[in-house]
Amino acid sequence: HAVPVVTIDGPAGAGKGTVSRLVAQALGWGYLDSGALYRAVGIAASWEGIGLDEPENLAACAARTDIKFVTQQHEEPKIFVNEKEATAEIRSELAGSMASALAAQPLVRQALVALQRGFRQPPGLVADGRDMGTVIFPDAPYKFFLTASPLERAQRRYKQLMEKGVSVKLDALLHEIVARDERDANRAVAPLKPADDAIVIDSTSMPIDAVIGQVLSALPPRF
Ligand code: C5P
Repeated sequence: HAVPVVTIDGPAGAGKGTVSRLVAQALGWGYLDSGALYRAVGIAASWEGIGLDEPENLAACAARTDIKFVTQQHEEPKIFVNEKEATAEIRSELAGSMASALAAQPLVRQALVALQRGFRQPPGLVADGRDMGTVIFPDAPYKFFLTASPLERAQRRYKQLMEKGVSVKLDALLHEIVARDERDANRAVAPLKPADDAIVIDSTSMPIDAVIGQVLSALPPRF
């Protein structure tokens, strides 16, 4: 495939979103937030009254849901689900756990494969998720697996939510992160794991700039 992809996989709260977005910006490439697709399907399903235990209906919902990212300079993209703005809703803990529940269903994952591969457009793509390097873009020339200790990830998420004025308890977040990791790593389809050829970065005590620097320095200069 002529269009290069950098994949950045890893568990919830490892900083993948920020790192991927800034790496994409530095390269002048597109950015795929695949987690947002699963979150968007979760939200659309809840709008339509589809239960998390209805695989066929969820897959049909995934196939027909219109999801748009509107990029803004220096900010997180806005997300529209079936033409409705859902940026805040998508980022909620509820959307995250709904996404994780429906992402365990093979039919739902299948329904999103072509959509995700369609983001591979010139000049290149940075793809962020759980199975970008293993399933969606196995031929990607550059793969990273970004991780951090569960406590560190809970603390980062806590800080983020506090800054947004959302009040939460740290131990509840930690509990939720550990539960979500468990589910994502132990599911039968596309479990969370580093691709054999991924570079693993543990960002536990690294500032975000250092992580971005490490990713960029692993890429060839011609990018
Ligand atoms: O990355 P984010 O936290 O937005 O992802 C939400 C959930 O979607 C994850 O917990 C995971 O279960 C699922 N997901 C996935 N495959 C991806 C991206 C996200 O299964 N490529």
